[in-house]
Amino acid sequence: MVSVSDVAEIPNIYGFNGKYKKSDFYWVLSFYVKGKAIPGLFATQNEEVHRLLKRPIAGIYSMSNLISFEPYVDSTIREFLKQLDSRFVQTRNVCDFGKWLQMFAFDVIGEITFSKRLGFLESGDDVDDIMENSWNYFYRAAPVTQMPWLEYVLAKNPILQYLRITKISPIVAFARTRLHEKEEAAKTHQKSGPDADLHQNRDFLTRFMEVASKDPATPPWAINAWATSNITAGSDTTAIILRTIIYNLLKYTESMESLRAELDSRPELSDIVAWKEALTPPYLDACIKEAGRMHPPFALPYERVVPPEGSVISGQKLPGGTVVGMPAWVVHRDYETFGYDADSWRPKRWLECDALQKRKMENALLTFDAGHRSCIGKNISYLEIYKLIPTLLRDFELQFADPGGCEWHVENRWLSRQTGLNVKIKRRSPAKSSEEKL
Ligand code: HEM
Repeated sequence: MVSVSDVAEIPNIYGFNGKYKKSDFYWVLSFYVKGKAIPGLFATQNEEVHRLLKRPIAGIYSMSNLISFEPYVDSTIREFLKQLDSRFVQTRNVCDFGKWLQMFAFDVIGEITFSKRLGFLESGDDVDDIMENSWNYFYRAAPVTQMPWLEYVLAKNPILQYLRITKISPIVAFARTRLHEKEEAAKTHQKSGPDADLHQNRDFLTRFMEVASKDPATPPWAINAWATSNITAGSDTTAIILRTIIYNLLKYTESMESLRAELDSRPELSDIVAWKEALTPPYLDACIKEAGRMHPPFALPYERVVPPEGSVISGQKLPGGTVVGMPAWVVHRDYETFGYDADSWRPKRWLECDALQKRKMENALLTFDAGHRSCIGKNISYLEIYKLIPTLLRDFELQFADPGGCEWHVENRWLSRQTGLNVKIKRRSPAKSSEEKL
């Protein structure tokens, strides 16, 4: 795989014309059941299948639709803050905040997709070991994506597939149950689930079902594939950005002070900060962009295959079939684009530059990839992040539990099952209607 860091090549490799197809890296990440591939929006290498899956639902993820999902996010934020208050503020217990942010991210995408949280926040624990399975899956899959033939040997050859007793993942099982509930409710013209009335049932699943009923070409497996991919693609990723923001704000106290000052200067912010309010504070926006730049959740290069006629990339001729990929972790530290302090957390870089420089930096951000296979859920994750961070930091004081600070040691996670982002939490000020909020 030829690793490319030249920012100028982004439109070439990841253009909207889709000339560079996804490599076998994605085959490793595709799901097989009993020897058959289950097509998914993210992993499919087949552009026809991708079109079939994306066209009917792209509009649901659009910016103009976003506000209609806001009540679901509000409801999960409310539960998150309530749990923090009762489990950590009142008891003064140390909180593994990395874990709680991940539980928030799972539950909020569950609520947006199914009108029902997966239950992490209420239980305070890893429901059905979903987080543990996700960790184990990527721990195994990441090295194998670099040697796709190994996947054939270890998992996706016909003999092993035949012998394997397939265990349905808890996320797929959860999606199936919700789909079944909705179908039953539709038959009896009832609204489904305990929270059904709450948001007039405009969750993703309802919209997916509407789309499928209008288009007879929709394959029967599509609704499940769409719903499941929301959870698998949209939970860990969002959690990683949330952790990065909190970690860096705790580490660089002057940065936290700047954000607090900005939030405190806006007493008009709603109890749960509204999406339209969250878009205006500039330092908040800069922190979120800087987190996506410093610690893009998708850490391996987005691999693509050079089209059959070959290509010239950064002055080098590459024959058709060569696998190329741009790693966001390298591109985001390009000194010429982001400045000579690109290795450091400095949100102000997004505020001090002129409009031209800002556009240049934004165009070089690969947090969500670029072009026609870029993230369909970007707006949804922004909705969650732009609302949670200001609401949380305005009302709660967080500090590292260890006064010496905190360095993440991911490798220890195998032993401890903890993320290591341990914090103590206090209420900041009795916000005007905190009682009501909790
Ligand atoms: C901070 C949060 C997120 C990050 C950093 C992120 C990142 C990405 C990236 C880098 C890709 C493209 C990967 C590639 O080219 O190989 C992608 C694709 C995708 N993401 Fe996200 N994502 C996030 C949140 C979400 C959410 C919330 C959803 C669903 C609601 C979602 C659903 C998808 C899907 C379905 C695809 C495949 C799109 C396609 O191929 O057309 N993502 N994401």
